[in-house]
Amino acid sequence: KARATLKVMISGAPAAGKGTQCAKIIEKYGLVHISVGDILRDEVKNGTAAGKKAKDFMDRGVLVPDEVVVEMVKSRLAQDDVKQNGWLLDGYPRSASQAEAIEKEGIRPDIFLLIQVPDELLVERVVGRRLDPVTGAIYHLKYNPPPADIVGRLVQRSDDTEEKCRVRVATHNANVDAVVGYYTDCKVDIDGTQSMAEVFEAIATALDAAVASKDPLEQFC
Ligand code: AP5
Repeated sequence: KARATLKVMISGAPAAGKGTQCAKIIEKYGLVHISVGDILRDEVKNGTAAGKKAKDFMDRGVLVPDEVVVEMVKSRLAQDDVKQNGWLLDGYPRSASQAEAIEKEGIRPDIFLLIQVPDELLVERVVGRRLDPVTGAIYHLKYNPPPADIVGRLVQRSDDTEEKCRVRVATHNANVDAVVGYYTDCKVDIDGTQSMAEVFEAIATALDAAVASKDPLEQFC
């Protein structure tokens, strides 16, 4: 029997825990993770035309222009692996115009997860974050400490300073209501202040319900 393929959007402020939860979601549900931030960082690293345009905006913590982002997302969503396995769109849409651009293509999620974390917790999460360039794993010096043998190779994102975090949070806060307005029919609020395991439990409950409502037989598998 074919599995119901889910279409999921995940949203939340910078360092709300989107990337952390996406790793757990794709492991359990087999969705294709499309992280616009990760795609843009790859473009910057590889020195592509899109990367050159995006770099300055990312360094400042503001949104990269739609002309760079929208086609990138639309073409990724059109690929075969996404159609076969379902998608987990992380960090898109971030503005009304971005939501509008995919509405026009008939692209809508089954579920829109909004991870809620108060602003005052976000700076601490950002400055303590460390990334493993080898595996892509996300750590936090206090909340998810890395194993001692890999500490030396961990890196920090260039936009992970307190000052840039505040700009990124302000950018998020200025846009989130307009984005959420497109998805009120399928929005699920997730309390992102809980432990990572508890946050995932809440997300899995919501996703299981979405799978069951798409394909009622799935709940018996
Ligand atoms: P992007 O890469 O998407 O960054 P972001 O939205 O700022 O989100 P982060 O990756 O910082 O955080 P996260 O929510 O994934 O948190 P994480 O799980 O790592 O975008 C970067 C930039 O690209 C943007 O500023 C913009 O310039 C550009 N861009 C991206 N999309 C765009 C778009 N659509 N249009 C235009 N421009 C775009 O967790 C953070 C830390 O907290 C980690 O250390 C983690 O270990 C820890 N943590 C996680 N969960 C918990 C928990 N429950 N308890 C304690 N600690 C936790």
